[in-house]
Amino acid sequence: MLSFLMHQLTVLPNFASWQKLARSALASGWPPEEIVWAEWGSGEPELAIFDESDATPPTATAFRVPKAFLDLAQTVACHRSAQRWALLYRVLWRLTHGEPNLLKILVDADVYELLAMEKSIRHDVHKMRAFVRFREIKRDGADSWFVAWFVAWFVAWFEPEHHIVERNAKFFVDRFASMKWSILTPDRCAHWDGIRLTFTDGVTKDQAPTDDTVEPLWLTYYAHIFNPARVKETMMQSEMAKKYWKNLPEAALIPELLAEAPRRVAKMNAASAAKEIPVEFDPIQLPDSHDIEVIREAARGCQACPLYRNATQTVFGEGPTLGKTKARVVFVGEQPGDQEDRSGRPFVGPAGALFDRALAEIGLDRSLAYVTNAVKHFKWEPRGKRRIHQKPTSKEIAACRPWVERELQIIQPELLVCLGATAAQSLLGNQIKLTRDRGQWLESQWTSKTMVTFHPSALLRAPDEEMRKQNYVLFVSDLRMVVEALG
Ligand code: URA
Repeated sequence: MLSFLMHQLTVLPNFASWQKLARSALASGWPPEEIVWAEWGSGEPELAIFDESDATPPTATAFRVPKAFLDLAQTVACHRSAQRWALLYRVLWRLTHGEPNLLKILVDADVYELLAMEKSIRHDVHKMRAFVRFREIKRDGADSWFVAWFVAWFVAWFEPEHHIVERNAKFFVDRFASMKWSILTPDRCAHWDGIRLTFTDGVTKDQAPTDDTVEPLWLTYYAHIFNPARVKETMMQSEMAKKYWKNLPEAALIPELLAEAPRRVAKMNAASAAKEIPVEFDPIQLPDSHDIEVIREAARGCQACPLYRNATQTVFGEGPTLGKTKARVVFVGEQPGDQEDRSGRPFVGPAGALFDRALAEIGLDRSLAYVTNAVKHFKWEPRGKRRIHQKPTSKEIAACRPWVERELQIIQPELLVCLGATAAQSLLGNQIKLTRDRGQWLESQWTSKTMVTFHPSALLRAPDEEMRKQNYVLFVSDLRMVVEALG
């Protein structure tokens, strides 16, 4: 009896295929509980199978759903769980049947699951960016540098948890535009020949090369960024799961670096406590370029103030800077914190989590914005085993200013939001007072819509719960002005 009412929809494992079927099912008025979603293996023809009892072939109709849902659905479509199609349809159905604000109810079981899937994919995307290692394929017959360049091909093997190869490929094209490369995975393979990006079916690991001429580069880089103060073996394993180690040439360095870590930590602490480091400021040699990748690359080696010495790495801004998707809004924070310093990405620690929560509340997708900091290195002092944030001085803020200025020159945002006093000081000068000027559009050299608001860390540090809540509400209402201004 039950099967008589059920409709089976068989989807190719991609968003476009699900979207097409979901539209048709919505148009036919099929509630989620009457649909069984099945998935084709990749490469098979797209096909919808409908129950024979069904008299009306589905037709596509336009339904209005929040853009945030479409973005979320495109991401969640990459998840490996076979349940994702049913979940997405359930949420779509609810959004179009009386619950248009469903995505704002973060405690709803469906929304919660959707966001958990999205987070897992973001994590996987990040892991792939961090752990893909190219090996150069040597070819015979390269008798000139040109031929050698022409035939050189770099190949990487990676095992993603989700279907993220297509989603992530653009990142590798941007990062390694002048190389020719392939990223091989069991699901899909991406290939860049210097001009075109193409995809083929997955392969098995034995089809990936082991011959290697680029390892020395990675080894030098890894030894350089290794921060002995951060050593926690269990955490290293959870971040850089053992599964990835086997593909990483630098894994061989870890025992040696671990053995050396206590001595290096002691040295770093002593140097910091005794303020041994002389204050030196070498003005930045900013490249004459408006290519964000060129600027990002140059910032990696910045030594314009002493903060680089105790930081793991430069944490540069993140977000779309090109073409139609170029960020319309730029958020500028103070400086990376402990977790940002470790991961190399802005606002990924506790302050970032609060920032994300506020953005989710106002329905602003962070990936559409550009997020950066006024100071690009983490300033800290040791307290026991912990690294405690220290406020950058005016000199350090000034030394770092050319980076954030160039980021703004490149992006030319419609809206600029300074998160906290340091960003305001860097970009707007000392006359700005957070208590007086917060939450209103100000004219600046960057844009006529510049705003200063709380820094998320300041909200976390508020002396009592009451003030925390009150300031958070103000923070969200400031951010809501951003959404309104974006229309
Ligand atoms: N605080 C900031 O200002 N920036 C970050 O990236 C993290 C915390």
